[in-house]
This record gives sequence, structure tokens and C-alpha cells, in this order.
Amino acid sequence: MSNIESVLVENRVFPPSEATVKAARISGMPAYEAMCHEAERDLEGFWARLAKDNVVWTKPFTTTLNESNAPFYKWFEDGELNASANCLDKHVGTPVENKTAIIFEADDGAVTRVTYKEMLARVGQFANALKAQGIKKGDRVIIYMPMGVEGVVAMQACARIGATHSVVFGGFSAKALNERIIDAGAVAVVTANYQMRGGKELPLKSIVDEGIGMGGCDTLKTVLVYMRTATACNMVAGRDKTFAEVLEGQGSDCPPVAVNAEHPLFVLYTSGSTGKPKGVQHSTGGYLLWAKLTMDWTFDIRPDDVFWCTADIGWITGHTYVAYGPLAAGATQVIFEGIPTFPHAGRFWQMIEKHKATVFYTAPTAIRSLIKAAETDEKVHPKNWDLSSLRILGTVGEPINPEAWMWYYRNVGGERCPVVDTFWQTETGGHMITPLPGATPLVPGSCTLPLPGIMAAIVDETGKDVPNGAGGMLVVKRPWPSMIRTIWGDPERFKKSYFPEEMGGKLYLAGDGAVRDAKRGYFRITGRIDDVLNVSGHRLGTMEIESALVAKTDLVAEAAVVGRPDDLTGEAICAFVVLKRARPSGEEAKQIAADLRNWVAKEIGPIAKPKDIRFGDNLPKTRSGKIMRRLLRSIAKGEAITQDVSTLENPAILEQLAQTN
Ligand code: PRX
Repeated sequence: MSNIESVLVENRVFPPSEATVKAARISGMPAYEAMCHEAERDLEGFWARLAKDNVVWTKPFTTTLNESNAPFYKWFEDGELNASANCLDKHVGTPVENKTAIIFEADDGAVTRVTYKEMLARVGQFANALKAQGIKKGDRVIIYMPMGVEGVVAMQACARIGATHSVVFGGFSAKALNERIIDAGAVAVVTANYQMRGGKELPLKSIVDEGIGMGGCDTLKTVLVYMRTATACNMVAGRDKTFAEVLEGQGSDCPPVAVNAEHPLFVLYTSGSTGKPKGVQHSTGGYLLWAKLTMDWTFDIRPDDVFWCTADIGWITGHTYVAYGPLAAGATQVIFEGIPTFPHAGRFWQMIEKHKATVFYTAPTAIRSLIKAAETDEKVHPKNWDLSSLRILGTVGEPINPEAWMWYYRNVGGERCPVVDTFWQTETGGHMITPLPGATPLVPGSCTLPLPGIMAAIVDETGKDVPNGAGGMLVVKRPWPSMIRTIWGDPERFKKSYFPEEMGGKLYLAGDGAVRDAKRGYFRITGRIDDVLNVSGHRLGTMEIESALVAKTDLVAEAAVVGRPDDLTGEAICAFVVLKRARPSGEEAKQIAADLRNWVAKEIGPIAKPKDIRFGDNLPKTRSGKIMRRLLRSIAKGEAITQDVSTLENPAILEQLAQTN
């Protein structure tokens, strides 16, 4: 890819083809604009209409939005529904009933198909098994599972009985799991003996045992274990039961429990700017509405589509666009257990051909790593597979650089498929700013315009709008149905993090910087403005990693973590560490750095391992003792320090830290 290409990016515009516009549900910009105007004129009327048309309510709502206790907004508050019934029961007696809901491809390539009817039976049976364990409406259940049908069944079964699930990504450590079990007050953990990834059998159950063994999990009564592989695992008598044991004798009929629209469907932990992850609490009614609608709008889902979102159910993308959205939309979806590079880096393209996927949704990091692989080995280039089934491509999780966008558009989409660069967050529940495939002219590297009803804007620190072309903070000015309701157990932190008083207390602060272009008003996300890093599309708090490092009390005195740009992972983690002993160098430094990386993997998970670790006698601090992170960011990038260092207590330290060990 030439540099010229990347310089010219801003000027490239790809309008949707006439045929795409004609066939699309939201057809052309005037249709999009009309919807936006409808929402601007009458926000409540707009959402009420959509909620009536797209959600099956067991008790219809009469109030749309209650703002009396803002920012604790309530949507459809007197309505009742069941999320699982909206994904499964709703299709009974329609042509969707016998359609394939899930095409599951295992790590080793084995394929299983599950119809909607079978899915309903499996979810019903698992829900009955949960009930038989004493799990009931309002209880919290941790799900720590591999990618597969069983994970989705477990989530749907919780929803069916009104239990609130909290899925923990299978790459998180025992300690992370322990903290989440305690914070959520979970009564059960649903897990598997092992998971298969890249041909390797990796433990899950032993990590659960270790996590529970760390203590404090007083609410926990039950651990349910899916035997994914034939290898036995430790089972604690009285507490642990296999799926086979608890499903035995359970019928598949389980009436869905109607819950209030505001009932917490799930809590999903994500990193914030302090050390402790936040339990993002989502509602049932508003969340489900947006999961269904964004499937229809952003992916323009049709009855014959084969939708494939590659995200793990441990992340929000896997919640909205694997576990709920595709089922609510009645789509056929692919679920993949493995990794994109096994047994070769053409696996995604091979699977698109094999399953005739029509809509493909993945992360920029995956695209960048597959570009690299295709450039070094022709055999894994997408041109080797027939990708003509594709009609829409999507990306999510981090900014996509225009070069990667162009490669994806050309080599995967054959210059035929719109690329929807979807900006959103764990907290937003679903897409916020994204092109519509049959309406929005695309600009590489831009998530373009907010969806109808989403009042996104860019403001300065006082909450005032900035003009197009000037950067600022991304906010949402009005509530929307799928927004975060609170931080589990910490409403004060919710208010402070997302609705700061300094900005009037009513603007939702996304935590990202953004700029709108002067010509079209298109949004471009410039990255986090808080102490949150985005590594391979995974959110990590710098303080979370710092806390993990200093928890190694025998070795580490102090640590500061910053991000630096990385071609492949977007951002890379760079840790500056002061040891309790003399600053190491050479082989010893390498060894200690490796030990610390493994330590962080154990404390949080392998995704949090710092790429660079540098040792210093001290950290750059102001006279009042504050670590000057902006200097560390420059050092991490390898930049010369041009900033004012006059307030620095110990300027000599900069030179020391700039040397790589
Ligand atoms: O910084 C933004 C980035 O990912 C953050 C949200 O991370 P998480 O809650 O883990 O959810 C990721 C999946 C929705 C945002 O604050 N981000 C997400 N999508 C984009 C993005 N940055 C730029 N462009 C995007 N399309």
C-alpha cells in the first residue's frame, strides 16, 4: 500500500450502487434524513413507534421515556416482555421456525446446524435445568464459556427465566473471574471443562476453581460444566455438575418469564479509567429493541442472509450481534469456535466461501493481521476463495485505518460491498454512528453519521458544540433505549463517569475524542480521551494494568502504563516500572520483563500483557509527586521530548527511560 493512498484517503468517497440503494430497507439518504427528522421532531413518538413494531410485549408499555430521575433514564417502564421469547418463541409458526439459526463451525472444522425450533427446545431445557438448581428471576449467573451454541443457549436460558447473566471472556484470568463473581454476587457459574482454540485444548474449569478458591465468593452455590472435550476435569462434590447431569430428565418446554422492560438483562464488565472494571448494566426492553433494529438498519438483514459476526460472546459485540440481534431478526448466523489463523490465515475467507456468508462483521485488528499474512503468503490471500456471496462488510471496536479499509473493500468485498464502520461501546448496547449500506456514501476511516434517534455531537469541556473541523469530545445529547442504565452496585460512579456535572449532567460522555469533517459533517473517532487503551479492539484501563503490576509486591515498587500506536494492534501497552531492587539491565532485565508479562496475564488475562516494559530508577514526576504521563507517552513512541519539563522534579530520568533495555 502506497503512502500516497493513505494521504489521499479523505477525498475518496464510495456511494452505494443504485441497485444497493433500491434494494435496501433504508433506501437512500433522503429516507435516512426523514427518519432523523422524525426523531428530532418527536423523540418519544419515534421510539414508541419502533418499540411497538419491533418488540413482542406481553404487557404493552404506556410511557415511553421517564426522565424524572435523569441520568437514570427509564424506557418503556411499564411494559413487560421476555428477551428470549423475542428471539425464539416469536418465530414459532412462521417460516423462520424451521430455518437454521446457527451454523456452528468448531475449531477443527466440524460443522453443526441448529434450527430455530431446536434452539427453542435447547434453551427451554437449559432454562429448566437452571430452575432445578434453584436459580430464579433476579439472580446473577456468570457465564465463562468457549464460543459455541452452548454459550448462547446459556445466555438465552438466563434471559428466559429472568436471571441476569454476566459473561466473562474466556481469556480472562482466575483473579478477574473472582472479582466479577464477587461484584455481581453471582449464584452460579456456567463454564466448560476446556476450550479448543488453534488446535489446543485450553483449560476453563480449572481457572474457575482457582478463581473461586481465591475466596469471597459467598453467594456462589453452583458450577455447571459443559464437557467440550473428552478430558476429565476436577469436580467439587455438591457444587459442580456437568451439563449432562443437570439436563437429564428436563423437558424442553419452559414458559418465558415476563419481566419489566427495565429489568437487567445482563451486566457486562468493561475497563474504565480507574483500577476496578465497571459492571455495565443493560435493560431488557430498550436493549432488545436496538439489537433487533440495528440488525435491520446497519446490516439490512434479509430472510436469506447468512450473517457472521466474529466477536466472542465475552464482549458486547458478541452479546448484541451473536446472542441476541441475529436471533431477534430471525437470521441464520455463523458461530466460529476457533481463531482466524488456524490452521492457516485464510480461515475466515475459507469459511465465508463454505457457508456462503452474506454479511461479515469483524475487527480492524483481525483485518490488519490477515493483510499481513496475505502479503507474506499468497496462499492465504482472500483471492483464493470465492467470496461472491458477500454483500455487506462491517468493522467494529477501534478506528480502522484507511489502508486497511481499502484492502477490505477491494480484496474481501470485491469493491461491491459497502463497509459499515460501526462506532459504539459496551455502554451503548448497539451501533451509534455508522453508515447505512443502502444510503450513506462511504469515506474510508470514518464511521460517518449517527443512526436515526441517536443525538451524537462533539463538544468542548464545558459541553458547548464545536464547529465541524474542530476536534472535541464525543457526546450523546438525548437518551436512547439501549443505553447503559447504571454501573452495577455503583450508581455514583455511573453518574460521574458518563454524565459529568461540569458538562451540565445531561450529556452522555462517550470517553472518545472525535472530529466532524467540514464538508459532510462525517464523524471520525480519534481515540479515547481517558486512561483507557484499545489494544486489538479490547478495552483495558491503564490503572488496571498498573494495579496488576504493583500487586507483585516482592518486586515492583511503582509502575506507570501508557499506550503507544502500533501498526497491528492499534495501540500497544507500554509499562514503565520501578523495582524494589536496583534497576536491571541486559539479560536480567529481559528475564524480569518476561516474568512481569506473565504476572499480568495471570492477574488480568493474556490480552493485558505489556508489549514493552522499561525499568527506571524512578518515574518522571512533578514536584507534587504526580506522574507525568504525557512525557511517558512520548518516550513510549520514541519521540524526542519537546514538552515543557520545567515542573519536573527529576528531569534526568527521561534519558534513562528512553533507553531500551
Ligand atoms: O474507543 C472507542 C472504540 O472502542 C471503544 C468501546 O470499546 P468497547 O466498550 O469494548 O466496545 C467495543 C465494541 C463496540 C470506544 O469508546 N471503538 C469502537 N468502535 C469503534 C471505535 N473506535 C473507532 N471506530 C469504531 N468503529
